[in-house]
Amino acid sequence: MNRRQFCASSLAVAGRTLLGGDTHGARAHQVPGAVPATEIHEARFPEGFLWGTATAAYQVEGAWKEEGKGESIWDRFTHTVGKVKGGTTGDVACDQYHLYPQDLTLAQRLHQKSYRFSISWPRIQPSGTGPPNMKGLDHYSRLVDATLKAGIRPFCTIYHWDLPQALEDRGGWPNRDLAGYYADYAGILAKHLGDRITVWAPFNMPWSFTYMGYGVGAFPPGRANYADFLKAAHTVALAQSQALRSIKAASSKATVGSAYGMCPAYPKADSEADRAAAARYHAMNNVFFLEAAMHGRYPNAFVGEPPYEVMGFKSGDEKILEAPLDWIGFHYYTRRIVSDAREARTFGGGSFGGTEIEADSAGGRDPYTRFRAVMPTEGPLTESGLEVWPRGIYDLVTQISREYNHPILEITESGCGYLDAPYDKANGGVPDARRIEFFRQELAELARAIADGARVRAFHAWSLLDNFEWANGHSERYGLIYVDYRDQKRTIKDSGLWYGRISASSRLEA
Ligand code: BGC
Ligand code: BGC
Repeated sequence: MNRRQFCASSLAVAGRTLLGGDTHGARAHQVPGAVPATEIHEARFPEGFLWGTATAAYQVEGAWKEEGKGESIWDRFTHTVGKVKGGTTGDVACDQYHLYPQDLTLAQRLHQKSYRFSISWPRIQPSGTGPPNMKGLDHYSRLVDATLKAGIRPFCTIYHWDLPQALEDRGGWPNRDLAGYYADYAGILAKHLGDRITVWAPFNMPWSFTYMGYGVGAFPPGRANYADFLKAAHTVALAQSQALRSIKAASSKATVGSAYGMCPAYPKADSEADRAAAARYHAMNNVFFLEAAMHGRYPNAFVGEPPYEVMGFKSGDEKILEAPLDWIGFHYYTRRIVSDAREARTFGGGSFGGTEIEADSAGGRDPYTRFRAVMPTEGPLTESGLEVWPRGIYDLVTQISREYNHPILEITESGCGYLDAPYDKANGGVPDARRIEFFRQELAELARAIADGARVRAFHAWSLLDNFEWANGHSERYGLIYVDYRDQKRTIKDSGLWYGRISASSRLEA
C-alpha cells in the first residue's frame, strides 16, 4: 500500500467510526486509538523528569565542508542526482553549526532540560582514522558549554548516520575493521568532552542504518544485499561494545546507553506462528543490539540458528559483544503488525519513507527472519504517513522494562511530521494543533507506563526544529520550531509553546 492508499483506508476507518461502527462504546465519537480525557488529566511525571528535544548533526548543522570537515556518506548521497526528494541536500540545513547559540536560547525559553544532539564523525576525523581535527572538537566543545549554560543536559549521540566517506571507500560497516576505528573515534570524544558530557549513546537506530544502507539501499551507501546487512550489523554491535569500553576508559563520569529505534510488534492473528513471527521482529528490529550488549549474544531473530558465518562471527566475539549498558534509550514513532512468512515464496516490493521502513525489500524478504511487518492504518496518519497510536509507547516501555529487569529508560525520540507553516490569521504563529494532540496523548500513555512502574527519566521530542529529513529532504517537518529555509528564520510553533509549558509544569493540560 502506498501512502495515498493508507490515507484512503484510514479515512474509511474514520468514516465507520463516525457512523457508530466502533465497538468501544464510550469512545464511539473518538479517533481510533485516542486516549480518554480523564487519563490526560491524571497523567503525572516524576520529580526531576528531563523534558528534552533531539536533533542529528547532518540534519541540522549545514557547514558541510567548513573547518576541516571531511566528506560523509550523506554528503555523497545528497550530491548524487535523484537520491533525495526535491534534490535537497544538507549542505546548509538549519545552519545550526553557526546558529546554535540562538537555538539553545530558544530551547532554554521552552524550559528544556535535555538536548540530544549528534557529533559528525568526519568533522572530528575527516577520513575516519588518525588524529582529531581540533577545529571540529572545538566546535562541539562550545556547543556543550552553551548547552550547560542554558541549564540543559547535553546528551551526545556519537553516530547518527554520517559515516566518513573514506571509511565507506574501505568497505563501510560490513568491514569489521570499522569497529576499532569507531571505538577510537568514541574515545577521542570522551577524552575531549567527557569532563562535561556524561550521557552517551553510541548509535542512533543501528538496525535502521545498517538495513536501509546495506540491506535495501534506500539510504547511503545504497547497497541492497542481505549478507552485507548482516555483516554490517555485526560490526556495529562489536563497535557499540568496544566504544563503551573506550569511552569509560577516557572519562570516569561517562554513562553509556542507547538510542535504538523500536516499534512494538503485535501478532496479526492469534496464532502460534504469528506470535513467533512478532517475537522475531522484536528480536531483529528492536533488541538485536541491546541483547548483544547486555548478554553477549544475538536474540532469536531468525528461523533457526543465527547465520553466524554470513555475519563474520568469530569465536570469542561473545566476550567482545558483552558490555552492559547503564541505561536504555529508544525511540517510539509507530507500531507494527507482524505475521509469519515462512511459507511465502515472493514478497511485494516495499516502499521506504519516513520511519516506515521495514516492509518487504524490493528484492524480496531475507531468507532468515521470515516475517512480514506492516504498519496498520487503524489510527489516523500523520502527513509523513505514520499511524498515530499512543498506546504503542505504553506497550513498548512496559515490555522493555519487563524484559530487562526494570532498567533506567530514556525516550530518545518521538514525534510526528505535519507541514503546518506560519499563518497570517494567527499573527504569523504556527497553529499545529495536530502535533499538540499527538504529544499530549502519547505522553499520557507514557505517564501510565511510569505509574505502572517503568523507570523512565527523560523524553526527547523529535525535533527541536524542522530539519533535513533524510531521503525525504524538506518535504517533511517534525520540528517544534518552524524553519524558513530561505532565510533561516525560526518561529516557535504552537506545539513548541505548548511543550514549553509542559516542560515547566509536567502537567499535560497546560
Ligand atoms: C507481545 C509479546 C511479544 C512481543 C513481540 C508483544 O506485544 O505481548 O508476547 O513477544 O509483542 O514484539
Ligand atoms: C530518526 C531521525 C528522523 C526521524 C523522523 C528518526 O527515527 O532518528 O533522524 O528524522 O526518525 O523520520
